[in-house]
Amino acid sequence: MNIYEFSVDKLDLKNKIIFDCAIGAGESTYYWAKAIHEQGGSSKIIGFDNNLSGEDRNIIHENLKDFSQYVEVKNGDISDLNDYKNNSVDYINCDDTVVFLANTVGLLEKSIKEFHRLLKPGGKIVINSEIPVSWNSEVYIQNQYRRWNFAKAILAFKGEIWSIEPSCEEIKKIVIDNGFVIEKEKMFQPFKQHNPTPCINEWYEIMRDEINLLKIGEKLKIALLVEASVIRNNVLEKGMACPAYFAIHCMKS
Ligand SMILES: C[S@@+](CC[C@H](N)C(=O)[O-])C[C@H]1O[C@@H](n2cnc3c(N)ncnc32)[C@H](O)[C@@H]1O
Repeated sequence: MNIYEFSVDKLDLKNKIIFDCAIGAGESTYYWAKAIHEQGGSSKIIGFDNNLSGEDRNIIHENLKDFSQYVEVKNGDISDLNDYKNNSVDYINCDDTVVFLANTVGLLEKSIKEFHRLLKPGGKIVINSEIPVSWNSEVYIQNQYRRWNFAKAILAFKGEIWSIEPSCEEIKKIVIDNGFVIEKEKMFQPFKQHNPTPCINEWYEIMRDEINLLKIGEKLKIALLVEASVIRNNVLEKGMACPAYFAIHCMKS
């Protein structure tokens, strides 16, 4: 069972309202929509994200394929969905997003409180998150390590934070402190990504733009641009890992 199959495992997805916080490329959303299709009924997923272009929306619908019909994509900040009523949602899928919430003081906890407000009693959040990549003899794992830590270093030049990876224990404490009980959890080992090309190309474009904006000398800028391109080429040639992940099912008590 992969992490996305674990996310929807044993969930009753018939006639339910599901919020996807945040939808990103819709990779995990595909598994939720597929499970809805298999169970039948009239369930609906609303996928929120605060940084989606028209092109991103096309990618989501390409990833969802025939299951697109179950998903509506909306711009929104998942820490503040105040257009939606208390106790109105059955499930929240929060896949690979807490690492970006933990960058801003208080934002992760604010989001968990918002999920608690939105969920019906007995409703659930499923959180998937990354475990920091450790150096390893496998080249595809080294490539993920370099990509992730290079991005952190570039953002640090500007005094910003690319990501913070809270541990499973830290996340569990936050959800328990905010009115959830842990139903089940599982660790997933790193594996080689099937098609890292879209991800590494998007990463490269972000790095290129960030480096060009840095207030540093031209020679250093060129050296960083070359390094970004070396990392991308290594990934295209030798592949890249998905990091280890943990997944937790949390129920509103
Ligand atoms: C790695 S992606 C999520 C992957 C996605 N769950 C999937 O299945 O493909 C993380 C997303 O979180 C979004 N994001 C980060 N902070 C957010 C916030 N406060 N509100 C809404 N979206 C946010 C980013 O724009 C990004 O698209």
